[in-house]
Amino acid sequence: MPGTKLPPVPPHATPPAPGAPAPSVDPRYHRVFSSILDVVGDTPLVQLHRVTKDLQSTLYAKVEAYNPAGSVKDRIALHIIEQAEKRGDLKPGATIIEATSGNTGAGLAMVAALKGYKTIFVMPDKQSEEKRAALRAWGAQVVITPTNVEAEDPRSYYSTAKRLVAETPNSFYANQYHNQDNPETHYLTTGPELWRQLAGEIDVFIAGMGTGGTISGIGRYLKEQNPKIQIVGVDPVGSLYYDFFHTGQLTQPHTYVLEGIGEDFLPSTMDFQYVDDVVRVNDKECFQMTRRLVREEGLYVGGSCGAAAAGAIKYLRRHDKAGLRAVVLLPDSATRYMSKIFNDAWMRENGFLEPETSLGHVGEMIGDRKGRKLVVVRADAKVAEAVGVLKLHGISQVPVVSEGKLVGVLFEKRLLERALEGGPADVPVGELVDASYCTVDEDTEVTVLTELFRRFKVAVVLDEKNAPVDIITRIDLIDFISKANARRA
Ligand SMILES: Cc1ncc(COP(=O)(O)O)c(C=O)c1O
Repeated sequence: MPGTKLPPVPPHATPPAPGAPAPSVDPRYHRVFSSILDVVGDTPLVQLHRVTKDLQSTLYAKVEAYNPAGSVKDRIALHIIEQAEKRGDLKPGATIIEATSGNTGAGLAMVAALKGYKTIFVMPDKQSEEKRAALRAWGAQVVITPTNVEAEDPRSYYSTAKRLVAETPNSFYANQYHNQDNPETHYLTTGPELWRQLAGEIDVFIAGMGTGGTISGIGRYLKEQNPKIQIVGVDPVGSLYYDFFHTGQLTQPHTYVLEGIGEDFLPSTMDFQYVDDVVRVNDKECFQMTRRLVREEGLYVGGSCGAAAAGAIKYLRRHDKAGLRAVVLLPDSATRYMSKIFNDAWMRENGFLEPETSLGHVGEMIGDRKGRKLVVVRADAKVAEAVGVLKLHGISQVPVVSEGKLVGVLFEKRLLERALEGGPADVPVGELVDASYCTVDEDTEVTVLTELFRRFKVAVVLDEKNAPVDIITRIDLIDFISKANARRA
């Protein structure tokens, strides 16, 4: 039951007399395990107080750093290996290979150490030195690959892992991005644990999305128990999940500093049918929240925990009410981030220590335009028609829609290129849309928009039904910030 406390362990004030019989074991204290693998899972659920002080809702954290190799990934490592053994895919003396940002590697290396397998891990170079060192400490071989290459590039960490699997005899590819034993682990363990820990009284579950195994497995379990439970994903600026969830379109991903969550492709372990909403966070708020979790809540946790908590609080601010019970999953420990998030020099160099100057929200930015009908063109409209719309309204880009949903943005530059190429004018514009746009909603912070505009040319504002209601350009942002600065001066 939640909150039930065991009585304190009796003090041994009087040492037992020599030769006295051993005391009988109280089964509630009898926590002796046959191996460290039996310690995986059953992690604590801890209520947050300080970082949530302006909320009426209650937020609990599922603290996965309590797993023996330090993260939520111990769970999937154990299940993936055991299932592969059962299926005969993993044979004695095999080498386990994985593309991992570190935590899955630690889990696999721990399980492999006990079961006598060798391990090779492929990691992108943005991952912290502590993570690499930890994997080597488990006896693993670590191969580093460049971060700034496409997933399909032969140098990418996915391609390198695949090549190593092909080249290594008796190897097994754990493949956490496409192995359905990953989400199944959470369906079988983490989901039921949460349900038991809160005796079914849970309204919202929030988690970051990497492979999507955590959110898809827990989401599926909780929805089966009670379909009303809201499952909320947290995605960093730069990843494609947020835009994909809200529009079904793949926009251009770009790099970000946060480790562990967000993707530049769609893994098959990410199942959006169990996800009700996705909120977006930026590097700075993630790292500042990570520090607050340690300093104010005493939770010694890592960067994706700050991301998940910042996202959870953002979601709860919109849906806050007394009695609402939410759980956020915190995937790993602070240990692996000492040289970055907990290093003041690194934080300062990257601009993550400066206090946040609130510029308000997108809703305020488009305030006086609200109610005005957005100019759009249908995806099946022909080039000539779209040119007419751009000319008539004196605009350089226009959202393209199909059945009221955004399918992309058409830029005049693309139309010009097309005209110069001599392409026919009867092509539907749906084929000419550009991926260099992002989506936001009225609650998106202007600071987050600023970051998005380092990469994207325009932002399309979506309403609650994900229909486009406005389009924001860099000039709109410059205008808004200049006016805000003038007011402050
Ligand atoms: C630190 C950290 N947090 C969160 C996640 C995301 O969990 P999942 O892959 O189950 O979506 C990962 C996955 O790599 C991770 O390493």
